[in-house]
Amino acid sequence: MKKTAVAPSNIAFIKYWGRKDEELRLPENGSISMCLSELKTTATVEFDESLTSDSVTIGGKTLESEVVRAVKHLDRIRKLAGIKTFAKVVAENNFPIGTGLSSSASGFAALSMAAAHAAGLSLSEKELSILARQGSGSACRSIPDGFVEWLDGDSSDSSYAVSLYPPDYWDIIDIVAIVSEGRKDIATSEGMKRLSTSPFAEARKAGIKNKITELKDALNKKDFTKFGEISEAEALNMHAVMLTSTPSLIYWTPGTLQMMKVVKKLRSEGMEVYFTINTGQDIHLLVESKYQSIVEAKLKDLDFVKQTIVNRPANGTYLDQKL
Ligand code: PMV
Repeated sequence: MKKTAVAPSNIAFIKYWGRKDEELRLPENGSISMCLSELKTTATVEFDESLTSDSVTIGGKTLESEVVRAVKHLDRIRKLAGIKTFAKVVAENNFPIGTGLSSSASGFAALSMAAAHAAGLSLSEKELSILARQGSGSACRSIPDGFVEWLDGDSSDSSYAVSLYPPDYWDIIDIVAIVSEGRKDIATSEGMKRLSTSPFAEARKAGIKNKITELKDALNKKDFTKFGEISEAEALNMHAVMLTSTPSLIYWTPGTLQMMKVVKKLRSEGMEVYFTINTGQDIHLLVESKYQSIVEAKLKDLDFVKQTIVNRPANGTYLDQKL
């Protein structure tokens, strides 16, 4: 059977950094995110008896490290479905990969749903989220709709994501500023293994539960100032841990830093805009929709911003029934 699924990437306001179980990808802490409307992966999976090995292409290319992870994920799905058949996987992203826009989140969410259906499995949202998590942690948050929490469980069955609010709950805009095209030098999965080497790791851990409660409270009250302040401070907290790890992790490029300065300047001029950053140079600006056009106009004047992508909160992963 051949099935196609479409999955959004997501942006975390409270980040996932570090794992308490490497193999199962159980995170050190819970996290909160929003699915993004304009960053998507479309994956088509077909299990075919005539194949003698799996074939995986991403954007028409066979990228070694991604293929190894995708095949491992197909093995999980084959085991669940009790089949041995190899599969053909064709995945396309509508955005650059490896620059901090979480293509592994959308990629593994789309692969999980398409492959599970193609293998004849009928999984609940929770089961799909658990499956996606094992491919790439953040992928579990791309399964449910809108504003999402990844619950901090101690076992595989209790570590999955749930929707807190649907996409139309709050018209927040996430404007991605692409500041350079190069791919990050250290993969996120590798970077995370260095968490415990940072002298700030314990401090991060001590404060994170409270931060999750505070952010949920800001979401509940639609308090944009509180929401933005917590999100920006949290991104800097995670990067402080990265910068002080051994060996250190420096994901920013000059454009990232320039953009941070611009955001702070805009705020000092009365414009409510905040930033958040993942592992990579690209930077996400968080604004209320009423300020979208003003912020977009400002970004157009900046020569270090190569491209912008304007995202709204979106639904999670779905099966494309047309294909
Ligand atoms: O699931 P991964 O391996 O793509 O890790 C995502 C890690 C961050 O993007 C840095 C934070 C997050 O919660 O998305």
